[in-house]
Amino acid sequence: MKFFQKVLYYFFMINEVIFFVICRKIPNSRFEQASALVGTRLYFFGGLTSQVVTNEVWYLDLSNSFNTTTPPWRSDIGMPVGYILGSSCVNPINNCSILLIGGKMYIPHTLYKTYSSCVYMFNPCISQWTISNLIGFNRTFIARSEMQAIIDNNGRIFIFSGKYYNSSVLFDDMNILDITTMTWSTPPISQNVPIPRLGYTATLLQNDLIVYIGGYGTPQISMNEV
Ligand SMILES: *[C@@H]1O[C@H](CO)[C@@H](O)[C@H](O)[C@H]1NC(C)=O
Repeated sequence: MKFFQKVLYYFFMINEVIFFVICRKIPNSRFEQASALVGTRLYFFGGLTSQVVTNEVWYLDLSNSFNTTTPPWRSDIGMPVGYILGSSCVNPINNCSILLIGGKMYIPHTLYKTYSSCVYMFNPCISQWTISNLIGFNRTFIARSEMQAIIDNNGRIFIFSGKYYNSSVLFDDMNILDITTMTWSTPPISQNVPIPRLGYTATLLQNDLIVYIGGYGTPQISMNEV
């Protein structure tokens, strides 16, 4: 009995320590990370932290209000890759899984780049990462950076333009991934192709149109070009 009590005591002590370490941790400063809101959880993926591309996943639970000087950061299972300059969307069909698409990826804790996949899926309900086989993937999309993905209500992701991370050449294509079949397509867009660009905003309207505004391109992109 005494032994059992001791075991129980240490079990609770360890739990306390784990709670303290996990729940009181604050993420290091970072930039070029991705984010996604699922239910009441606001997730952050990867980012560049003091010369290292991290695979860390952090979230804030917004179901309770908190003092913004001490945000209640929680960490989740890390990404299979260190991740920056990509884009994220939430699957509208299950309103749960998060897709991270494009971006520059590293083998975690190294300076070696990896392009084993361009799409990583995270299920926050079970903290699980999935890498899917993409049918018909367009290899020029590898390491596509500084673009914004939009997902429609049928689960089709649209990504316009962007660039290979360390090139100055901008793509003028539209890449589409249907997440219900994991099928990739790059249909030709012949009419009214907007100026290729980086760092623009893309917004899905209720009538299914995507509005592209701003960004960096040549010639300079006017805010009058919608
Ligand atoms: C938030 O925390 C700071 C620092 O502890 C404190 O000064 C401030 O009063 C708090 N704000 C609220 C609204 O509790």
